[in-house]
Amino acid sequence: RVGGAAMAVFVTRRIPAEGLRVLSQAGGCRVQQWDSEEPVPRAELLAGVAGKHGLLCLLSDRIDREVLEAAGPDLKVISTMSVGFDHLALEEIKKRGIRVGYTPDVLTDATAELSVALLLSACRRLPEAVEQVKNGGWTTWKPLWMCGYGLSDSTVGIIGLGRIGQAVARRLKPFGVKKFLYTGSGPKPESGAEFEAEFVPLTRLAEESDFVVVTCALTPATQGMCNKDFFTRMKKTSVFVNTSRGSVVNQEDLYNALAHGQIAAAGLDVTTPEPLPTDHPLLSLKNCVILPHIGSATYATRSTMAVLAANNLLAGLRGEAMPHELLL
Ligand code: NDP
Ligand code: DGY
Repeated sequence: RVGGAAMAVFVTRRIPAEGLRVLSQAGGCRVQQWDSEEPVPRAELLAGVAGKHGLLCLLSDRIDREVLEAAGPDLKVISTMSVGFDHLALEEIKKRGIRVGYTPDVLTDATAELSVALLLSACRRLPEAVEQVKNGGWTTWKPLWMCGYGLSDSTVGIIGLGRIGQAVARRLKPFGVKKFLYTGSGPKPESGAEFEAEFVPLTRLAEESDFVVVTCALTPATQGMCNKDFFTRMKKTSVFVNTSRGSVVNQEDLYNALAHGQIAAAGLDVTTPEPLPTDHPLLSLKNCVILPHIGSATYATRSTMAVLAANNLLAGLRGEAMPHELLL
């Protein structure tokens, strides 16, 4: 209860039932929900949040000044069912003294697993090969057909050796990777030690890696970081994988690098925009595997994320320590 009154919360989407149950079973919590698989229309979001104490949102909801003003002064907590928080206007949120909850750790394994799956799909050309089986392109076993690149003896460069970056390295190591490189805002000896990973500037990572995996957060510093200069430095035989946010990549530059053989292949779980229009040039390339932002999409992970987001929201509304609060 906030000052003895019921806590009013707005939930911007249909979420796993376990998460909603946490909210509906909490004493004194009145839940209004946009109960749909589709994103809440902006007008409904602005109306729904008005007068609420808590907001449970997703990465597809842009929580900016307009939303905060529509919510009014009662809004005390925003809980996002995601680890990424680039959709939240943190300066505006902080100014208003609103607390923020998010969902780190619980999705790390699922996202790292998907990153490895995407890397293998791109470097061993799995979607292309499956297509060949279906369309009759598979005529016989051919020594030079459908060859790709393997991880054995390779150098892997990780952009952002955070929770997910480390989980990816841990999974890739047993494939016989020879060397791990990483880049970020500074060296992190304690994170890199397990993989004997070397901290290098972005340019060196691009030049020396056989596989580049992007697992950093989207920030002003990382926006557009993988651009023409970056792809030009990469080897012609290298493979690029992005499971962070689409805007870390300049997609036009990536298209040119893939189309002109500057790099061998790419795997993207995230794009700009999302969804990617079905006539987007990247979708015309055989050497680009694109997934619809499914990094954390296991049943168990999404359920755990929803429960954590609900518990963050409730703890914040009660003025208690949140299981995972983003410190602003
Ligand atoms: P962490 O905070 O643990 O890791 C983020 C990493 O980004 C840190 O290692 C940080 O390095 C790095 N980083 C920050 N600035 C830079 C920079 N300028 N250059 C290179 N690296 C930088 O977060 P998680 O690992 O939990 O999640 C990472 C991101 O993955 C999320 O923010 C989200 O956008 C995305 N994600 C995508 C999913 C999907 O479905 N595809 C699922 C889950 C997450 P440093 O500490 O040195 O600053
Ligand atoms: C996140 O949590 O930031 C992902 O993009 C989706 O799980």
